[in-house]
This record gives sequence, C-alpha cells and structure tokens, in this order.
Amino acid sequence: MNEPTGDLRDSTTLAGALRASGAVREFTDDVVTDSTLYDILDDARFAPSGGNRQPWRVIVLRDPDQRRLVAETYLEAWHDYVGHVLAGLVPFAPTATAQDRLSALERRGDAVAKSDPRGFAETLADAPALLLVTVDLSQLAATDRDLPRYTFVGGASVYPFVWNVLLAAQARGLGGVMTTVATRLEDRLRPVLKLDDNDAVAAMVVLGYPRRRVARLTRRPVERFTTLDTRNGPALEPNNPSA
Ligand SMILES: Cc1cc2nc3c(=O)[nH]c(=O)nc-3n(C[C@H](O)[C@H](O)[C@H](O)COP(=O)(O)O)c2cc1C
Repeated sequence: MNEPTGDLRDSTTLAGALRASGAVREFTDDVVTDSTLYDILDDARFAPSGGNRQPWRVIVLRDPDQRRLVAETYLEAWHDYVGHVLAGLVPFAPTATAQDRLSALERRGDAVAKSDPRGFAETLADAPALLLVTVDLSQLAATDRDLPRYTFVGGASVYPFVWNVLLAAQARGLGGVMTTVATRLEDRLRPVLKLDDNDAVAAMVVLGYPRRRVARLTRRPVERFTTLDTRNGPALEPNNPSA
C-alpha cells in the first residue's frame, strides 16, 4: 500500500520539513527543559481550531509517580492495540465487528508475551518529555455529531495543534511522536490528571532529542488517494495535458 517518497527536500524549508517529520521513539538522555517546552508550545499555539476556540490544554508530566501511572496505563492499552495487530485487524477501527473485538482479545495474551522490556511502550516513564494534551469537549464544533456514523470532526480542533507541537519540536532539533492508545483508558487517567468532566484526553506527545531519525518516510503517492470528481474518478496526475 505504501510507496517510498520522492526526493527529500531541504528540511529547513516548510515543504522539506513536512516530508521529513517522522515519528521518533528513541531519545538521548538530554533533558528537555521547561524553557524549550515553553518555546515549542509558544509556536504550536498558532494552530487552527473550529471558531478559533483553541480547546486544548497541555499537562506536562514531571512527577515520577504521575509518569509511572500514565506509562502503566499506556502499556496496558498498547497490549490491547498489539492484540488487534496480531489478529490482523486495524486496531480499534470504528467499523469493527463483535467478532473482530473477540479476535483481538484472544490475541492480547500473545501481545503481553511479546512485550519487550526495552521497548518504547515499556520504557515510556523514562521518556525525556511527556505531554498530555486534553480537550474541552464543550468547545468543539463537532459538525458530524448528529450523523449515525462514528464522529471524528471534533478531533480536527486539537490534532493540528498536536502536530504543530511535533513540528515546532523538530524545528528545535527535538523529535517525538503523537500517541493515542492510552485514550481508551481515559477514565483511569482522569483522577490522576484531575480532569474536569468535559475534558477528554486527545493525545500524549512524547518528546526528546532523537537518537536517530528516519531518513525517508514511507507514504502513499498523491495518485493513490486523489481522484477527479468522484471517489472512483481518474487519479489526479501531475502532468495531465487537459488541465
Ligand atoms: C492519530 C495518531 C495516533 C497515533 N498513536 C500512536 C500511539 O499510540 N503510539 C505510537 O507509538 N505511535 C502512534 N502514532 C504514530 C504513528 O504510528 C506514526 O505516525 C506512523 O506509523 C508513521 O510513522 P513514521 O513517521 O515513522 O513513518 C500515532 C499517530 C497518529 C497520527
């Protein structure tokens, strides 16, 4: 499904940065200072949101006990996720059947058995910076709220901010990854983080100075996901003589 990307561009340009912003999950021991985090968030806050309501909050986890609790929650949810992968499923797809759920549950034990003590999920409590991004649900313009299908538009008022955090971090030589698996155990995080009733956990962003960066990201080419006029129309081609 995925193809290698085209040429890498200069990552100091915006387009170049977009093409080189891969997930980073291995970090050096360098400390991420509050001043650096402040600068990153100071850039990231210019993200768009519905009605410019900026419904996000960020909780920086410094306390070791808080970190441990959140990391334990993440690991538990991660095993659920890997159970799905081992069952050959897209984890937590809104279209999943009861049988899919059962198949994933049946593989959860295998996921736990495969757990690597040095893995990202297993060592999360030691990550240089852990940022919990929450969102005030009362501030979301979830325009698909009343549709009979799964609703997701509300997320568009917080995830551009989350992505900005990662881009702003990259601009300062840091790297990181947006994580969402722990949101499924949000109720466990709620008392730990002292969340309000309308708060939801949108993501945990993990940041640090990268041990290594992936040189080339693997993404589908434009023609594979862009068509003209209808979903099954002809692919948008860069050199279409009629356009
Ligand atoms: C909405 C979203 C949720 C994600 N959740 C997780 C997560 O819970 N844990 C994790 O390790 N990575 C998570 N990721 C990172 C993706 O795995 C990563 O962006 C993707 O595999 C591409 O990886 P690459 O940049 O190395 O090519 C998430 C990314 C997005 C956009």
